[in-house]
Amino acid sequence: MSVIQVHDKKFQPYIGATELQQRIREMAAEMSRDLKDERPLFIAILNGSFMFAGDLFKYLNIPAEISFIKLASYKGTKSTGNVVQAIGLDEDLFGRTVVIVEDIVDTGKTLSQFLPQLEHQQPKKLLVASLLTKPEAMVHPIKIDYLGFSVPNKFLLGYGLDYDGLGRNLPEIYQLVE
Ligand code: HPA
Ligand code: MG
Repeated sequence: MSVIQVHDKKFQPYIGATELQQRIREMAAEMSRDLKDERPLFIAILNGSFMFAGDLFKYLNIPAEISFIKLASYKGTKSTGNVVQAIGLDEDLFGRTVVIVEDIVDTGKTLSQFLPQLEHQQPKKLLVASLLTKPEAMVHPIKIDYLGFSVPNKFLLGYGLDYDGLGRNLPEIYQLVE
């Protein structure tokens, strides 16, 4: 692995493919133990989480379901502020053990708006799994139940994360060279 160029910026290797897969296997093993009798429903948030969600789900060895959604953010009224809407969420969450799957939690803004909407449906448990988080960027604290890596507040690329549309297909994670 060496420095790569995407659009106008340079990125250096940060987390290798083997280390990523190893950590995701550990996360899947922990979740398989914790949730073995729960038949959890994984809800993966597109686009960024597609690769993490696929690998995590592949490494689970318990009965589990998965559904992929997109979150659309739009300006609500003055009283509601910004609103996030889930596109493609057809499942009834009542009484279910639900695991939200994210590639990265940085400011926490999206989940701070989205999780309360899901709580309305009265799931039995509502858990969050995120491959990455940037604690220095967190504005709306989110409890992450299953975390891959805690990273500095620098722009990352690869393994689902894009820079202006490109880089999602990289099997490892790169960091912006500043
Ligand atoms: N890279 C790409 N997409 C992102 C990031 C990042 O570091 N943080 C939130 N979305
Ligand atoms: Mg992006």
